[in-house]
Amino acid sequence: MASSNTKRMDVGASSDVVTSVQVTVNGVAHQVGTEFSPQTHLIDYLRNELHLTGAKAVCREGGCGACTVVATTPDPEDPKKSKTFSVNACQQLLFACDGWEVETVEHLGDRHHGYHPLQEALASFYGTQCGYCSTGMVMTMHGQQKSRGSLTMSQVEAALDGNLCRCTGYRPILDAFKALAEDASQDLKDRLPDLEDSHKERGCCKSKNKCQRSCGASCENIKTIKKKNVSTVTEGTQWYQPVSIQSLYDVINSLAEGETYQLVVGNTGEGVYRNSSTPTASISMAGVRELYAIQKSATSLKLGSSVSLGRAMEVFKDVQFAEGFHYLESLASHWSVVANTATRNVGSIGGNLMLKHQHPEFPSDIFLTLLGTGASLTLGTAADASTSEVTLEQFLSISMAGRVILSVTLPQLSLNTQIHSYKIGPRAVNAHAYVNAVFRFEVNTTADFQITSKPFILYGGINPNFIHAKQTEEFLTSQSLLQPGLMVQAASVLSSEMYPDSQPQDASPQYRSSLAQALLYKAVLSILGEAVSPSLAGAGSLITRPVSSGKQFFEENMEMLPVGKPIPKVESLPQVSGEALFMNDAPILPGELHGIFIQSGVGRANIKAIDTSKAVTLEGVVAVVTAADIPGINSFIAANDVHPEEVFASVEVKYAGQPLGLVVATSHSAAKAATSLVVVEYENQQAPVLTIQQAQAEGWVFPTQQKPLTQGDIEEGFAASTHIITGEFDLGGQHHMALEPISARVAPTEDGYDVLSTTIWPAECQATVAQVLGVDASSVNVSVRRIGGSFGGKISRSHMVSSAVAVAAWKTHRPVKVSLDLKTHMTLVGGREPYYSKYKVGIDAEGKVLAIEEELTCDSGCVGNDVASGIGAAFMSSVYYCPNWLVQPMYAITNTASNTFTRAPGIVESLATMEAIMDHIAAVLGKDPLQVREINLANAGALRPGFTPVVRNVFKEEILPRLRVTADFDKRKAEVSAYNESKRWRKRGMALVPFCFNIGFDVIFRFGGLVNIYAHDGSVAITHGGTDMGQGINTKVSQIAAYILGVPLETVRVKATSTTANANSSHQGATICSDIVCLGVKKACETLAEKIAEFKATLPEGGAGVSWPELLKLCVSGDVDISERFWTQQGKYPANYDVYGGACVEVELDVLTGTFLIHRVDVIEDCGQSMSPLVDVGQVEGALVMGLGLHTTEEIKFNPTTGQKLAAGTWSYKPPSALDIPVDLRVTLLPNSSNESGVLRAKAVGEPPLCLSYGVVMALRQAITAARSMAGESGWFDISTPLTVEKIQQLCLVDSSQFVTTQE
Ligand SMILES: Cc1cc2nc3c(=O)[nH]c(=O)nc-3n(C[C@H](O)[C@H](O)[C@H](O)COP(=O)(O)OP(=O)(O)OC[C@H]3O[C@@H](n4cnc5c(N)ncnc54)[C@H](O)[C@@H]3O)c2cc1C
Ligand code: FES
Ligand code: FES
Repeated sequence: MASSNTKRMDVGASSDVVTSVQVTVNGVAHQVGTEFSPQTHLIDYLRNELHLTGAKAVCREGGCGACTVVATTPDPEDPKKSKTFSVNACQQLLFACDGWEVETVEHLGDRHHGYHPLQEALASFYGTQCGYCSTGMVMTMHGQQKSRGSLTMSQVEAALDGNLCRCTGYRPILDAFKALAEDASQDLKDRLPDLEDSHKERGCCKSKNKCQRSCGASCENIKTIKKKNVSTVTEGTQWYQPVSIQSLYDVINSLAEGETYQLVVGNTGEGVYRNSSTPTASISMAGVRELYAIQKSATSLKLGSSVSLGRAMEVFKDVQFAEGFHYLESLASHWSVVANTATRNVGSIGGNLMLKHQHPEFPSDIFLTLLGTGASLTLGTAADASTSEVTLEQFLSISMAGRVILSVTLPQLSLNTQIHSYKIGPRAVNAHAYVNAVFRFEVNTTADFQITSKPFILYGGINPNFIHAKQTEEFLTSQSLLQPGLMVQAASVLSSEMYPDSQPQDASPQYRSSLAQALLYKAVLSILGEAVSPSLAGAGSLITRPVSSGKQFFEENMEMLPVGKPIPKVESLPQVSGEALFMNDAPILPGELHGIFIQSGVGRANIKAIDTSKAVTLEGVVAVVTAADIPGINSFIAANDVHPEEVFASVEVKYAGQPLGLVVATSHSAAKAATSLVVVEYENQQAPVLTIQQAQAEGWVFPTQQKPLTQGDIEEGFAASTHIITGEFDLGGQHHMALEPISARVAPTEDGYDVLSTTIWPAECQATVAQVLGVDASSVNVSVRRIGGSFGGKISRSHMVSSAVAVAAWKTHRPVKVSLDLKTHMTLVGGREPYYSKYKVGIDAEGKVLAIEEELTCDSGCVGNDVASGIGAAFMSSVYYCPNWLVQPMYAITNTASNTFTRAPGIVESLATMEAIMDHIAAVLGKDPLQVREINLANAGALRPGFTPVVRNVFKEEILPRLRVTADFDKRKAEVSAYNESKRWRKRGMALVPFCFNIGFDVIFRFGGLVNIYAHDGSVAITHGGTDMGQGINTKVSQIAAYILGVPLETVRVKATSTTANANSSHQGATICSDIVCLGVKKACETLAEKIAEFKATLPEGGAGVSWPELLKLCVSGDVDISERFWTQQGKYPANYDVYGGACVEVELDVLTGTFLIHRVDVIEDCGQSMSPLVDVGQVEGALVMGLGLHTTEEIKFNPTTGQKLAAGTWSYKPPSALDIPVDLRVTLLPNSSNESGVLRAKAVGEPPLCLSYGVVMALRQAITAARSMAGESGWFDISTPLTVEKIQQLCLVDSSQFVTTQE
């Protein structure tokens, strides 16, 4: 509804003004008007209004790609034409889609119409695990295919720069789409399914008279509406859609004093900086065609300000061949790593420049590179319609109130002019710059590379005021770049004029300063090209990434088919088409309310008062619930032996981000607005404790419940040692970052509460809801269909949300739902524990380990639940033998969100510590790291402190010898050494990493389930206490049921789990639960098969000739129950066993910047006799890539004063992208392996391979060691993880005194 403080405006001729816009979705036109707020995003309209839930809302900041849809719009450059592109629906405002045809994944293909080739390919390549990213992946590729026609493999890879997947490790996704590329290898093409008949393109019904809209096609009969001025108003914001610059000015001039406005082009700016307040006017620029104009003359290239970054890149690639525009090639290359494909498709040049104008600290690549070219801007002033030309530097100091950027003009430059630019950030793509730089030099290449005019040296990311390196520009003017010592002096001048600021979220000032110097040196090396000495050749550029490839080797077990068969996931087609429904996709219930958490802004204080009086009066707000409203117990932990954790903080705030209450309202926006009106008063506020070291100082570090692990006599071991080595090791934490955010809906019902939750522990969810409400568990019905990834994050953490929602549902008597966005999710709950490890190791002269004393401390956050250092300590021996051990597991309490189990908790850290010890020994003795490892490998029968003696060291006996051959280890290692000898600023490293991971059938894991055979046709339905969260449990279960019952796999279906059907089941963790559930299903099916066989034997002639359905009907009429319940009893599990693996990792490092490329990884994983090889390969690859993120890019930082988590959301937290994975990834499931202790002779696989990812740190250590030796340093150095590009560069000891250009 129109609010009283806004006024309706007629813009231009009144007949042109309409109050609604038209959006066509999947061929059906919709009028959209004042019933929606102008701030409504396309994603919410699609999901909530049209119930098209294929596109997912995850980050809501343009950083994950899960919401991708494809749009066809009139081409603003020529409205007679149209253009098609992918776009993030979470950024796109609904009203800005006027005249658009939007296509969602539902339109591409489904079980009724057949699946689209892209969907088929993704499913059949095993490209889905949890499936939460899958629809976004499909739509990104669909947009690319539709806009470009055909694609090359390289274009396929580049297009996925903005789509995150946490499960698969990307390799199968890339392979699936590359198989459809024009230059696909035959090998990839051969793996495509037969696509001939599978998909019927949805064509238009061609009904010229009356369109029935039944075909669902992009309908030819729906006319693209002509753009008109639109003015509409709701929720305090007026939406305008001017159609010319003059009408744009009219709108701006018509606004009353105090009214604020926002120009809307791509609206992607809110992915970087959320609007702190809602503007009173939103003005869409889509109809102002002049702002999309592109004009090329002999001396200039002029681009309208609304031209998208993607379109500009296309223009640059065309125009680069015109005389004086050669520099556009490097501009296009730089812009290709700005944001991501979907953002560049709509994000405009003007919008980007305005972000820089509004936020001077924003390291805008567009601003910087345009300034570097000497481009100018044309600004328009609304008040008098005048225009002015300004430089980009002048633009920064001009008030833009009432002004509009009209265009940017790029000049023709002399042929001697060279422009080189760089962007160094936390991740290869889709990441902002730590430092970006552009260098413009006019150089006479025939006269000693003399600089013929004052160069332009510009930086971003240094501090908000610093752009130009003026003194360095002066210094270099007229110099010859070949002059000895020039760059050393230039770096010194540069450092004297550059003062990087220190912000907790940024890279350190030291790194940024060193990087700035290094980039200047790089630019000069680039200009000098072949003129530099051979060891410097190539150092001017960053490492380029070739198209990646993958190979998978496994045996197919034919004895128990379909067990052992490499089949795609059973849910993969529903996942790639959006038919697979997740919790958040449930239709909205009548009267459903939205909840948003009130979170603490400080990390260590007491709550004095929470004033909700203003919030509750806001229109749409129904209630604000706090600790005082909880009718039962204020804890979302119900399990025994763990500490309570408050749903809402009652007295004490333990971490910044902790929930203090929940606002519930009729709309998401009202709930959100109300949270900002809640006033919290704190008292006794203190500096938060954020690290293990700070916790030690406070006395907040304690021994765990587990006793220290001991073996032999540690003192004797040290006494017998020739060397004693001591060291410390810091390992960072990790967000789970499952793409499906934690969510819950609680609906009051006639007998209690129906709960939908993203939990992998429904029984505890039920118990905690019952506990907070003080009701019987039998009145709480929890059901879960599937989960969009967990990695441990949805074991107990989901219950914080479901319990809070339950309190609100109880209070309001209405259904309430909370769906966290990624940023809130990351600040609300903890993740993987950070670790600090302190070791003392005794060795003999050869390097054989005689004694290990270790203190392994984890940071468990504000509550000591889920402490994993004790688990880790038990695994520490890995593949090695040491006679004498003393390992003390400890835990620290800090003012951070309670940390929780995360894939291989504690184990990945303790194994990394063990590998660091091996590297440390090698460095001390000057030995080859692999040699040191080899002499310490355990033999069969060797004792170890955590588990029973080694049965057989599979790594030593099989994996290592195999890897040496298949990875060509020795030859490649020699090549790496030769390469390092020949290059000054590029170094390679290669390492071989092992692991041994003991699988224990822990007492806590018990699951119930039910196998039903239907007499009607003999098909089978299973429900079990586990949940498919991507790990493939339902696929394995279906394969087992089909094998044991002897029915076709397609007739077996796995249904949702619930607390009614599978009461009291455990959570899933410790890698083993898939196998336990498989065991239960196997036993139930065996019992059924026996019962049916016994009954069959009683039939005439032993039932010969009776068909399966007939037999089952006879069973039922003969009172044979053909349903079987199971309960996986402790004591009936097989014995514990070891899983082994190994990997060979090769990396290349750009010493000057710290950026690196993982060239090749060869993995061998022992999966026993794999039940489902594609599932297992998927787990290996996914775990490996998740671990690569843990060890390199995923850095968590906090504000030291408030304790607020700074790494939250996709802008500040960087898991690996598709362009960070190994370029060449080869995975082998160890052949001829069998496991007598396993279910159907298989070995569990979900967590162990994550331990291999530490190999990248080991390989980088080799490369860094080679770089340090050039700086005169040798010997051991500490590495803390994540080993970010910043840390790498700093460890390489880059010294500007070595910035030579020739052999000086
Ligand atoms: C995930 C992600 C990653 C990104 N990574 C990078 C990166 O690595 N490097 C980088 O440089 N940028 C990056 N960006 C920023 C991106 O380039 C900008 O968001 C985009 O260019 C803004 O264009 P837009 O059309 O969407 O602007 P909008 O969001 O529509 O507008 C942004 C602002 O500009 C104003 N505005 C728009 N046009 C005009 C005009 N003609 N005159 C006056 N004011 C105007 C608007 O009022 C608004 O305040 C990233 C963005 C996202 C979402
Ligand atoms: S990009 Fe839209 S939800 Fe992440
Ligand atoms: S399958 Fe990609 S996020 Fe789970």
